[in-house]
Order: sequence, then structure tokens, then C-alpha cells
Amino acid sequence: MSLLYERVAESLRGQIRRGVLRAGERLPSLRRVGRQQQVSLATAVEAYVQLEREGLVEARPRSGYYVRSTAPPLSGAASRPAVRAPRPMRNPALLGVLDVLTRSDLLPLHAATPALDLLPAAGIAAAVARTMRRHRDEALRYAAPQGHPDLRLQIARRYAQCGVDVDPDEIVVTAGAMEAISLALRSVTRSGDVVLLETPTYYGLLQAVAALGLRVVEVPNRVGTGIDAAQLDALLARHDVRAAVLVPNFNNPVGSLTGEADKQAVVAACAARGVVLIEDDLYGELAYSGERPPPLRKFDRKGGVITCGSFSKTLAPGLRVGWALGPHWTGELLRAKCFSSVATASLPQLAIADYLAHHDVDRPLRRLRRELSANAQRWREAIARHWPAGTRVSEPAGGMALWLELADGVEGGALFEAALGQGIGTLPGHLFSNRDDYRHHLRLSCGLRWDAKMEQALRALGATADRLRRRK
Ligand SMILES: Cc1ncc(COP(=O)(O)O)c(C=O)c1O
Repeated sequence: MSLLYERVAESLRGQIRRGVLRAGERLPSLRRVGRQQQVSLATAVEAYVQLEREGLVEARPRSGYYVRSTAPPLSGAASRPAVRAPRPMRNPALLGVLDVLTRSDLLPLHAATPALDLLPAAGIAAAVARTMRRHRDEALRYAAPQGHPDLRLQIARRYAQCGVDVDPDEIVVTAGAMEAISLALRSVTRSGDVVLLETPTYYGLLQAVAALGLRVVEVPNRVGTGIDAAQLDALLARHDVRAAVLVPNFNNPVGSLTGEADKQAVVAACAARGVVLIEDDLYGELAYSGERPPPLRKFDRKGGVITCGSFSKTLAPGLRVGWALGPHWTGELLRAKCFSSVATASLPQLAIADYLAHHDVDRPLRRLRRELSANAQRWREAIARHWPAGTRVSEPAGGMALWLELADGVEGGALFEAALGQGIGTLPGHLFSNRDDYRHHLRLSCGLRWDAKMEQALRALGATADRLRRRK
């Protein structure tokens, strides 16, 4: 690879990222770039072609190169079978997603979190106050790196309720599920290893994999039925995969539930081929049916699965409390945790342990599941009312993500940009893949309260999708 062209490309990428070169603006001519950067014309061309491949710029005939919108539309089919070679993370749009996540001025249809009033906020607030009154010193000291024993006990009890035996001593408490997954990946992989992910999958998993310099192969997550174990096994046969990071219970963004037979076969296939299974069971408690589906751990006879979860979607995302567990991996996870952040914050751990010890958490969970299930239906109906005919929406079985395929080739990136202008946050589909897939998809969250404002927002988004459709 010519390092010279990559140097030129990186300089322009930086200018686009920082907004020095803005969407729609013409890039300097190839000759000018060649002169500025002291490279040949051929090298400048190579750099521009690379940026075009990444979707950051576009060539316009007889006019030159122009910066595309900040969410570049990416090409690709909806759910190609993963017969492609492992490759490093190459989705430049993932870098930009933080801009949206941190904006507080948007109606947050991009955020997969329930409205706070659907969570037991008052009970949690009381537990925090009680903890500070009764255990102030402990709350202000470092916690043990593995996490507070009372909290680990409560986590093990939750698993016992769905028929899964977990020893509190195998649990490492983390700052949310995201840290749990990062620690698990750090414990089992080395830079350059191949990991298997679903496609589409949660963009945070893609970012974690990118941060560790891992390569990716993707197994399709099918709307409705989730992961196909036979397809996964075929990929494991073809590639030297070190670990698989899967979301079998209500994958984000599709909301599908992988059936028990496939779960069992996935665990067996990974065990047979020495692939470490990291499961992200964040949404397991949020089944619309009310019946908590088992985690992969339930089918793990050898103790090799690492199960990650958190209280982000059931109690409070801001407390940042999650866990990683798996009897073979506790030592590695604990070491990784110490190096990462010494220990998870004491106060939220103690407060959650206190809350769980004093409340029947199934009551607020029942309400939350009911509300999310009703919301998914309301959102789907509103989309059918207000969006162009031909728009397709997933029918999630749990969680709060809705996955839309836009009608008539409208690009998710274009709708995402236009929605920002209307004060509405959404996420373009291409964030959910390592490849440039899902350019005609969009993810919405249905975790907020349903009201007239929500209907209005969905109507406005539908009208914008229609405008974009007519413009094509
Ligand atoms: C599948 C999935 N995993 C992990 C996370 C991050 O969870 P946490 O907030 O507990 O770090 C999310 C957040 O939306 C998610 O959807």
C-alpha cells in the first residue's frame, strides 16, 4: 500500500471530520493537492479514489470532487450472506455517530433507552439516598475490582429466575454492558484476530472491535428469526475465528429473537471449533411475550461462554452498571477490569444492590415490557399511516429498536440528515454494519412515551421520506 496516498487521504479526512471542508464543498483540484502535499498527480488521484470508496467524497463529471453529506450513503444489499473475507473495520460513519448521541436538542428517536418515567426512577433515587445515609464511607471508597458482593449476588439471583446457574464469584461488575464486551474482547483476542458479528448489529460492538484492531466476518441476523446456526457454522468452517459477539435476545437494530434450537446449535458449533462466545444479553429481560428467553449460557456445558449484560435498559442507563460472567474467564476479565478502570463506581453498585434487595423488580419490568410492546405497535401503525407506501418495518419481539427499510431507494443517510434539520434524531442503517450495507435502512427507537408529539414527529419524518422519494 502506498503510504503517501494514505497520508494525503488522512489529511483530507481530518479536514472533513473537523468541518474545515464541509458537505457539498469542492475539494482542491488534484494538481493543487499534489503541489500542496508534494506528491505526484497519480498519488493525489489514488487518495481521492480512496476517499470516494469510503463514501466521504464524490466525483462529479467535469467538475471535480465534492464532500458528501457527513453520513455518507453506502452501497450494498440488505442482508448479504457473509461469504466475504474477514476485514478490518472500515465504516467511517461510525466515527461520526457520537455527534448525534451527545446532542441534547433532538427528539431522541435515535437513543435505544426507555423514557425515564418507564423506569423505576423514584425507587432508584430512594435507594441512592438510603445508600448515602447508611453506607456513606463504603459508597465513597474504591469498590473491589470484581464488584460489590451484594450486587453480584443479586445478579446471580436474576439468572437463577430464568433457570441459569451463575456463581456470584464468576461475575465481574463493569461500567455497563459496553465495558463488559470490551473487557471480554480484550481478554480473549489479540489485534488482527477475526471475530464474528451479526449483520446488522449494534454499532457499539463494531466500534469496540475497531478499537482493538480486530477483523470482522458477519453472519446475517434475519428479521424475525435471528441467527441461523448452520450459516454461522459454515462461516466458522471457512475462517479462523477467535470469538463471536452475538445478541441472540432481541438484536439491536432488528429486534429478532434467535430460537432455542439455533441457540443450542450456536453454542455447540463455537465449542466444537474453539471459538469463544461472547453474548450480549442486554435485552433479555425485555421480551414482549413476558417470557424471559434463555441466554446462550443456558446451553453452555463447558463454561466457555462469556455473558454480558447491564441494568441500562431496565433500571437506569446513567448509573453505568453492568457485568461480564463466565467461569473460565473470570481471572482474565478481572485483570482486564483492573487495567481498564480499577473498579466500577461504588455508589451505583450499592444503590442497585439495595434496590434489588428491597423491591420486586418484576413489577416495573412487567410495566416496561407492556409499554414497549404497545409502543412498537403504535410506531408501526403510525409509520403505516404517514410514511410512503412500500416502507417496511421490523416487528420486534422485544427491546425497543425498530428497523426500517425505506421505500423507493430513499437513503437512510439522507433521511437522517434531513431529520436532524427538523430536530429529530434517528440513526442511518449503514452504522449497523462493518460493510457499506443498509444504505436504505434507518433505525428508530420506540422507547419514548407515546403522545401527540410523537405522532407528529413520525408524520414529519414520513413527509420528509416522501419528499426525498419524489426527488429521486
Ligand atoms: C446491543 C447493545 N449492547 C450494548 C449496549 C450498551 O449498553 P450499556 O449502556 O449497558 O453499556 C447497547 C445500547 O444500546 C446495545 O443496544
